Amino acid sequence: MLARIFLYLSLASFSFSQATPDLAEIGRLVFTDPTLSNPPGQSCLSCHQSDHAFADPRRVSPGANPALSGKRNAPSLMYAALIPPFAYEDILLPDGTEIFAWEGGLFQDGRAKDLFAQVSQPFFEAHEMNLKNKAELAQRIRQSNYKDRFPPEALKNDGPLNYLVYRALVEFLKSPTFRPFDSPFDRYQAGEKNALSLSQKRGLDIYKNSGGCADCHFLEPQNWNQPLLSDFGFDNLGAPAIGKKDPGLFAVTGDPDDLGKFRAPSLRNVELTPPYLHNGSIKTLREVLEFYNKRDLEPERWGVTDYPETVNHDDLGNLGLNDDEITDLLNFLHAFTDNCLKKKTSTFPTPPKNTPPTESIKLNFPDYTHRLDPNFHEE
Ligand code: HEC
Ligand code: HEC
Repeated sequence: MLARIFLYLSLASFSFSQATPDLAEIGRLVFTDPTLSNPPGQSCLSCHQSDHAFADPRRVSPGANPALSGKRNAPSLMYAALIPPFAYEDILLPDGTEIFAWEGGLFQDGRAKDLFAQVSQPFFEAHEMNLKNKAELAQRIRQSNYKDRFPPEALKNDGPLNYLVYRALVEFLKSPTFRPFDSPFDRYQAGEKNALSLSQKRGLDIYKNSGGCADCHFLEPQNWNQPLLSDFGFDNLGAPAIGKKDPGLFAVTGDPDDLGKFRAPSLRNVELTPPYLHNGSIKTLREVLEFYNKRDLEPERWGVTDYPETVNHDDLGNLGLNDDEITDLLNFLHAFTDNCLKKKTSTFPTPPKNTPPTESIKLNFPDYTHRLDPNFHEE
């Protein structure tokens, strides 16, 4: 308890008595710093790659120690800061029934309550950046070429220093770079009727109606004032099995109904992020659509899945779409690609000039209400 109070006082004294450091800029430097892994050479950017909307084009990412790798495909970090926190939500169905369902959280099984809880973890995972402990992270930050950007008091103690490193990563991922909303779909929503081709307009209709995509990858704004193309709910799509079984949400809730369920991702920039599904088992976007369309008609094509008992057969598996409709739907998914990612000339994209700065919309971010108390990092 005493330690907590001291920590709080020391943090309070620098955060309020000095000019606030530019956390988002520090976050960018941390994100791209290859000296924060053991052995050195791996940064966040090694797996969340610039040319792939900050996802990994490899099915699974090798760690800093290349003999080790994780079991999931690294997802895009575009819009990741807008994912709502992990929660058990009360949902009212159109017919009036009330159900409860898990929603949100970071990582594909929702195991990190929110982005702050997430960003500390890659440093210490043996199959990722592989640092021994928090003291080692703090020591490497003190040796970095951007150490002077931290308030001098913060450099003295490991706890406050690591806290600022995590907050800096969060602020960086909240910055306009990661939420440009400048895809053809956004322009279409804003009233520019020619932003979508005729094929894409037919695809939009399939997405909403015969394909049922919009039931989970929402087209309406929910927790943010632009659509994020996900309800952030959890489902088992019956992904083709690869390697050891992955229990997904079950590992977090312990409920057998949750075996093999993963959080629905945003479909923004999905064109740029093959391979697909939590285990990267499907190589191309067209094949994902073929899987949704005919999974249950062609079991031999897709092979076994980890947990057949919880697979969703109500919403997918036999959609009855023909090849032209698949093409239209595919073309529509390409309309979710941000323009600034397509014509990017440096590591990080340049968002449109009118993208609101974080400060002006800080209340809208999911972390605002429950993560600004510095004591939270001790959880
Ligand atoms: C060795 C590769 C690797 C490195 C290095 C790495 N990540 Fe990841 N990252 C992943 C993988 C794989 C996942 C998905 C894991 C899962 O869902 O269980 C992931 C997930 C995430 C997520 C959650 C996204 C979501 O949709 O839930 C965030 C945010 C993230 N990483 C940020 C970072 C940051 C910040 C760093 C640097 C401190 C970093 N990552 C370093 C591979 C990596
Ligand atoms: C019942 C909810 C639900 C419906 C309906 C649904 N999806 Fe999904 N979608 C998910 C979930 C959950 C995942 C993540 C599954 C996983 O990783 O195992 C996902 C993943 C995806 C992915 C892979 C994204 C990636 O980055 O790996 C694509 C593409 C996709 N969906 C497109 C669609 C399209 C197109 C439709 C309509 C034909 C659709 N979805 C309908 C829930 C749904």
